[in-house]
Amino acid sequence: MTRLRVNGVDHELEVEPRRLLADVLREDLGLTGTHIGCEQGVCGACTVLIDGQSARSCLTLAVQVDGAEIATVEGLAGAEGLRPLQRAFATEHALQCGFCTPGMLMLAADVIQELAGADPSSIREAMGANLCRCTGYEGIVRAVARVASPTPPGRPGSNATGSDRLT
Ligand code: FES
Ligand code: FES
Repeated sequence: MTRLRVNGVDHELEVEPRRLLADVLREDLGLTGTHIGCEQGVCGACTVLIDGQSARSCLTLAVQVDGAEIATVEGLAGAEGLRPLQRAFATEHALQCGFCTPGMLMLAADVIQELAGADPSSIREAMGANLCRCTGYEGIVRAVARVASPTPPGRPGSNATGSDRLT
């Protein structure tokens, strides 16, 4: 048995050792928000958080993460609705076709933790780990910066504070 805690829900699954985490999330748990693009670790569409760190689920065997805490895009929104990061993506027009968006959001959740208060160039570099064919990244970087960086007084931007900032 492989035990995965996904978005706060415990699962015990019979998983063949060859199966990828991305496939188990999508096919066994029905969490199709995790997209599969290149299947070779390049595009980042399959990004999830494993114990809080962003990771390519297309390069991860499900049995490798036995006992781990997994977060997927389905787990981002809270009971009260979209989180600041998701709202920032909408506000900044950080998506077009949306194929890369689940992976971008999960990478961003990690980047916001790691680079809170960082300048946009650091955020741009970090978000470059995932590929987007549509947006040119400008809106994505603005959205992440909106949540990751403190807003100077009097300037429009994120009104999120504390732990609520993250996602
Ligand atoms: S599908 Fe995993 S990195 Fe592209
Ligand atoms: S919004 Fe289309 S690939 Fe990023």
